[in-house]
Amino acid sequence: MLKAVIFDLDGVITDTAEMHYLAWKELAKGIGIDFNREFNEELKGISRMESLEKILVHGGVANQFSEADKLGLAKSKNDHYLQLLTQMKPEDIFPGIKEFLDELKANDIKIGLASASKNAPAILESLQITYYFETIVDPEEIAKGKPAPDIFLRAAEKLGITPEECIGIEDSTAGIQSIKDAGMFAVGVGTVNKMEQAGADLILHNTTELALCYLIKKFNQ
Ligand code: BG6
Ligand code: MG
Repeated sequence: MLKAVIFDLDGVITDTAEMHYLAWKELAKGIGIDFNREFNEELKGISRMESLEKILVHGGVANQFSEADKLGLAKSKNDHYLQLLTQMKPEDIFPGIKEFLDELKANDIKIGLASASKNAPAILESLQITYYFETIVDPEEIAKGKPAPDIFLRAAEKLGITPEECIGIEDSTAGIQSIKDAGMFAVGVGTVNKMEQAGADLILHNTTELALCYLIKKFNQ
């Protein structure tokens, strides 16, 4: 029986995936690295420092920066990202999410957040939806980030239920893998090709398609 829905944040609840992209692109440009949206897909769901490593490898300059340099670069990116976040308003929540959260609450389905972002609690606050979430996993408290299953497993553990009783919702390939390896039902929001390849159990084009009845039907099939 479905007992909980565990959400990713960036690119699922609001359009912060785009802000991450813009901030990384600017940072990379500053050190002579260019990358496109296709490469950016590989950064989705991945922690800040891992994203930076991937960008440096992509640019062929992984050995040119000390650990201190890398921390500085990650901080610059985050400062720029935080700057972009100052514009965020409750209206920036993706269409259908608020209604879906209300539907989950009304039906006593627990709600959790499994985001790799250290900025997640502040973003939920800006969107004024913190109170919906019974648990928010701090990415610092898990050993391995997505695509490892740890963060979704930890969310289920904190909610006091088994992975088989959970649906996870993700927009990234790494995130879908994390949900599947946790033994949960994976809902992928995004393009069919990408989500099929990632192994999503149910694919939605966008968040307006999130409806509890439909999800429960698919979950029980
Ligand atoms: C994930 C995003 O949710 O969080 C990644 O998909 C991002 O793009 C990661 O790098 C870490 O976010 P933050 O806010 O801690 O830098
Ligand atoms: Mg995401």
